[in-house]
Order: sequence, then C-alpha cells, then structure tokens
Amino acid sequence: MSIRVEDYFAPATFAKIKAFADQQETPFVVLDLDTIGRAYDELEGNFPYAKIYYAVKANPAVEITKLLNDKGANFDIASIYELDKVLACGVKPEQVSYGNTIKKARDVRYFYEQGVRMFATDSAQDLRNIAKAAPGSKVYVRILTEGSSSADWPLSRKFGCQPDMAMDLLVLARELGLVPYGISFHVGSQQREIGVWDAAIGKVKHIFTRLKAEDGIELQMINLGGGFPANYLTKTNPLTAYAEEITRFLQEDFGDNMPEIILEPGRSLVANAGVLVSEVVLVSRKSRMAIERWVFTDVGKFSGLIETMDESIKFPIWTEKQGELEDVIIAGPTCDSADIMYENYKYGLPLNLASGDRLYWLSTGAYTTSYSSVEFNGFPPLKQFCI
Ligand SMILES: Cc1ncc(COP(=O)(O)O)c(C=O)c1O
Repeated sequence: MSIRVEDYFAPATFAKIKAFADQQETPFVVLDLDTIGRAYDELEGNFPYAKIYYAVKANPAVEITKLLNDKGANFDIASIYELDKVLACGVKPEQVSYGNTIKKARDVRYFYEQGVRMFATDSAQDLRNIAKAAPGSKVYVRILTEGSSSADWPLSRKFGCQPDMAMDLLVLARELGLVPYGISFHVGSQQREIGVWDAAIGKVKHIFTRLKAEDGIELQMINLGGGFPANYLTKTNPLTAYAEEITRFLQEDFGDNMPEIILEPGRSLVANAGVLVSEVVLVSRKSRMAIERWVFTDVGKFSGLIETMDESIKFPIWTEKQGELEDVIIAGPTCDSADIMYENYKYGLPLNLASGDRLYWLSTGAYTTSYSSVEFNGFPPLKQFCI
C-alpha cells in the first residue's frame, strides 16, 4: 500500500517542507509552524468554551511555545525543566498547570516559587507535599478512566485514582488549606473511541454531585485531558466529531451549570505538522528465497520513533521512488535487535528502493524529537527544524 501525501498535507505546504528538507543531511524533523497555528485555531473554534493547556511534552520546541503563547494558550508542564523553558519564552506562571502527578516535594516548591498555583495530584502523599510546598494552591485530582483498548498510546493505570479516593483527596485538600478545584482525566493518547469521554464525564459528574451534597465542596473545573487525534495510517473521526460529541456529553451531565473546562492537547496540535526525513542505509534479505526485504534506515526506535513500540503508532511513510511495491520490515540503525519499527504490520515499499533513498515519515511532529536518546550507539539526538 502506498500513501498519498495529499491526504496529509496541502501540496504547497509539502512542497515548502520538501524544498527545505532537500538542503539538510538526514535524519531530522521539519515542523511547519503554520500547520500548528491552524490546528490550534481549529481546536479553539471547536471548543470555544474551553481553555487550552498545550502539553509541552509532545514537542518542547521554543518556536512552538512562542507561537502558542502568542495565540493565548496555557501550558501543561511535566517537570521543572519544562517550566524553566516555557518561562524563558515569556509564558506567565498563571498560564501553567503542573500536570504531572509524580513529582518531588522540592519540585513542587520550585513551581510555587516561580508563581505557579495549579497542581494535579492522585495520591495523599503528593497532596500533602503540595499543601506544604505550595500552600493555598488549587488542586485537581486525576481519576482513572477506561479506554486503553481503543487508544493507540494508552495512559491508564499509572496515573489517576478511583473516584472514591478522588473524593477523599479533595476533602483532605480542603483540610490542608488547599483549594479543591476540580477533576482531570486522560482517556489515552490517540483515542479513537469518542464514547470513552462520556463514561469519564459521567464519573466526574458523580464526584461533583456527591462532594457538594456530602461535604459542601463545590468543584469548579474539569480537565478533559488530551487524546484528540492526529492523522496517522489508522483512521479516526475528525476533530469536529470529537467536539460535537464531547460537548453533548458535557451538556447532558452539567446543563447550564457548566464548570470551567480545560483541554490538554499535545499530539493533535503538533503531530500533523512534522515530517521526519530519513535515509535508507541498507536493503537486504535474510536468504536467497526470502520473501520479505529488510529496509534499514538511519532513524529508529532510539532516535525518535519509540512510539512504534508494539507498532502502536503507524506513521504514514512516503518515498519519491515509484513502482511495484513489496512488503518490507523496517528497522533502525543501532546494534539493538529491539530497534525494529514495523514487522507485523506490512508496509509496502518500492522494489527499486535503494541505499541513499529518502523516506518521509509524515505526522511525526509529536513525541519524536523529545524521545530521542542522547547517544545510543553514538548516534546524536534527532535534529528538528521549524519553518
Ligand atoms: C497529563 C497529560 N496531559 C496531556 C497529555 C497530552 O496528550 P495527547 O498527546 O494525547 O494530546 C499527556 C500525554 O502524555 C499527559 O500526560
């Protein structure tokens, strides 16, 4: 199967990216900032009632932070290092939420000293740390959700707690002098089943109602997380369908008493803007009669393509070579046998593909450069250019 670039990029945009890419040595990612700007506008247009917190972990390039800051975005931050980086770009601490539930007390303190007053949590120990290190701050509790089987990159189990514990934590937050502010969840990244938001919002509604009735706590905010789709090989509904459905779920549960709504998109804002350009190092077969060819490329699992683990994310791959296609196994350049990107899912590449030919991995603007190892087998981190 060969892909059509037009299904992923307007011809003029791809021509601009390719002309730039032609001047660079592989491997690298080219990010088209206009595409990110459009994705932000589209999300904002579809969720006019929500505040957007960009999940910086998806791609921490300063150019993206500056662009989204100029557009009025807020930022979901995972570590003190990300915090320093976004503050240096002119982001104000009021625009920041410390969204990582796993953090050191001294890092909470650092956020507080920088002026951040909004923290996620999902455990009593972390909550007590927040109360000490960031007194009086707003806290929201992350709950566990369903949806791991329909998300291409699930985020369940490790984060969040059951609703009963969430309620206990919010009561404890008040006792500790914090502001019990709201509930968050993340239904899994690249979530293809929109209905999982319905179940999650239902749980949130239950928590809002019970806390108000039993403890007199009025929560003010729901953080609907990320999970909105990027354009890979496995198709999803369009963003408009996500927005219509999620808005309906919210209205069914909250009617006219809609709390503050936060979205934390990462992938859906930046993935489609990126093209990773790699070069074929070798094409070989394991025996004379072997049906499949191995295509080794100068980028792999350890240099930005870790989301090919279990072949979870299937990036569209394009090459200029035309002609008859044949199934291939695609692997990276390191001396580690785990460095195979696709083996079970059959990518077809042209029979005449040869060393030196370029592969264009589309939709690679999210979770690629920041995942790249620093020196595995001596290979340097994956380069990135913003145009
Ligand atoms: C707390 C939090 N918020 C938001 C995101 C972004 O999710 P996505 O890339 O699916 O939009 C993540 C991703 O790991 C996350 O951990």
